Amino acid sequence: MTTRTVERIIQAISTSDGAGVKLRRSLGQSEAARLDPFLLLDEFWSDDPNDYLAGFPNHPHRGFETVTYMLDGHMLHEDHLGNRGDLTPGSVQWMSAGRGIVHSEMPQQTQGRMRGFQLWLNLPAREKMKNPEYRDIAPDAIPAVALAGGGRAKVIAGVLQADRKATPGPIQGLTTDPLYVDLDLPAGAAFAHPLRADHNAFVYVTEGSVTVAGHAVPTHAAGVLAPGGDRVEFAAGTDGARVLLLAGRPLREPIVQHGPFVMNTRDEIIQAIRDYQSGALTRAA
Ligand code: CO
Repeated sequence: MTTRTVERIIQAISTSDGAGVKLRRSLGQSEAARLDPFLLLDEFWSDDPNDYLAGFPNHPHRGFETVTYMLDGHMLHEDHLGNRGDLTPGSVQWMSAGRGIVHSEMPQQTQGRMRGFQLWLNLPAREKMKNPEYRDIAPDAIPAVALAGGGRAKVIAGVLQADRKATPGPIQGLTTDPLYVDLDLPAGAAFAHPLRADHNAFVYVTEGSVTVAGHAVPTHAAGVLAPGGDRVEFAAGTDGARVLLLAGRPLREPIVQHGPFVMNTRDEIIQAIRDYQSGALTRAA
């Protein structure tokens, strides 16, 4: 077994998106800050309604998947196909935009805390123009596993392998074969997990800090793991840690991104913009 080290730290930067929602962006803050197949990770966390009330009004996507994981708060999701989804605390919406979706995500609260994550996961070339698909995952469909070393793990995608027990999450069978685990660890708790040596992986620390193979990953930062090893090991700092562990099969395809469109070539991007302007983006295939 070879344990992975940390190759680089991507400290989240404060930015805003949608109609002015304040958020922290780690992966995706620049083209160099991607980790195939992961394109972007945003963390939103605020007790101030002015930071989130404007929401994310109608906007398009093509060519990838968006994964919204709510910790606190309530958002309503609606799209051009008439799908409506309630995003409540502990729920996940896994949206595969495929050839095109136009949707909105709007807060359903005027006070209190809004907290969660949005991950962008790339699709392979042969799936970029498939029909859009949703998986709305209720909080009780996400297994929460008590860890022998202290703390708990929630398994959103892939299979958690901890304490000689395999726990599958609700998302399985994607080409990128993602692992998405949310860990809450008390001070000093150690955690280890096998990884496929050919998958890319990172941790994102949202509270506290962790040490991965002697390398500290601070709060609001992604620690990108060096390639090649078949295991990750980390320990929570003196304040404990809330940390996401993500891994996936790299696609090794060219990426051309223009805002919410992620394709393989410039011509496909021009087509996506044209299709959005003409309405073809949201017409059935
Ligand atoms: Co969106």
